[in-house]
Amino acid sequence: MKTYLSGIQPSGRLHLGNYFGAIRQHIALSETPGEHYYFIADYHALTTVRDPELLRELVRDVAATYLALGLDPERAVLWRQSEVPEVTEIAWMLSTVCGMGLLERAHSYKDKLAHGIKPNVGLFTYPVLMAADILAYDATHVPVGKDQVQHLEMTQDMAGYFNGQYGEVFVRPEAQLADNESMAKVPGIDGQKMSKSYGNAIWIFEEGKALKKAIQGIPTDSRAPEEPKDPKELLLFDFLALFLPEDEWNDWAARVQAGGEGAPGYGHLKQRLIAAVDETFGEARERRRELMSDPAELDRILARGAEKARVRAQATRNRALTACGLR
Ligand code: TYM
Repeated sequence: MKTYLSGIQPSGRLHLGNYFGAIRQHIALSETPGEHYYFIADYHALTTVRDPELLRELVRDVAATYLALGLDPERAVLWRQSEVPEVTEIAWMLSTVCGMGLLERAHSYKDKLAHGIKPNVGLFTYPVLMAADILAYDATHVPVGKDQVQHLEMTQDMAGYFNGQYGEVFVRPEAQLADNESMAKVPGIDGQKMSKSYGNAIWIFEEGKALKKAIQGIPTDSRAPEEPKDPKELLLFDFLALFLPEDEWNDWAARVQAGGEGAPGYGHLKQRLIAAVDETFGEARERRRELMSDPAELDRILARGAEKARVRAQATRNRALTACGLR
């Protein structure tokens, strides 16, 4: 049986990259056979978020986002990472078999440094906690965006070192990417990877004037609509690819490529994109508002999820403690 598991950091409002790269898969997979575990990585977010009130709010926001977009907490276990403290015990055991060099090679850590983020030890050892998150639940498949693939490889390495030393304790997981390349790595409005920390993100539930402003911010150039252009070179078409059915995308692309009188201008394409965002998320925006108005209910859903998740993590923790001689 497949066990799917993934996590999202509550380090900011969730954006289109989080949706198309991860959440959309999580919800679709949770309707298929198997076990489904999705958690809010609040211990991880603590490496960057320093405001306790904000962190509490963001955790509920991630929960409300999943539920509003259609995750059924009866089919999938949804919980807050820190309510299962066994993962930190497993992380410690893994850190004793994980070489420094492995962590020093992490792209995500190096990117954060390059963006001027001042690192703490938690940010450096982040992949060890992530490996523990995955291994604690015997996950076989981890649906994530492309940026997390290296972390999955590191998880496989850590499981391999531990098992090599102490016997078969951990199950080796695999990353599972969205089939569609434009979803596995969604660009931000500056063309780099969309990220909460790069100031280039569009929030999933943006609407009205703010949505319009965000879409206007997708850069275009001064070429006239009549001038033929290669749609593959236009960032706007990457965004359209996320929302439009393939046939419709092909149709717009052919018209832009041909140029001439019938070709749409950038303004026109942006209008279409705004309408498509409204169609995709309109109903979920309302559901999210309702869910956010009842924080106690969100906390109850997360606590019920944590109870179920904890049973699995305790069994793995006990197996690991025994294997390495701590019991
Ligand atoms: P996080 O919170 O940065 O992102 C959550 C999920 O969204 C995906 N994602 C993207 N996908 C496509 N295009 C983008 N621009 C984009 N930006 C983000 C991420 O790949 C991820 O799937 N380390 C993880 C959280 C985590 C985790 C785990 C994940 C902690 N423990 C265990 C899986 C399993 C992270 O920072 O994701």
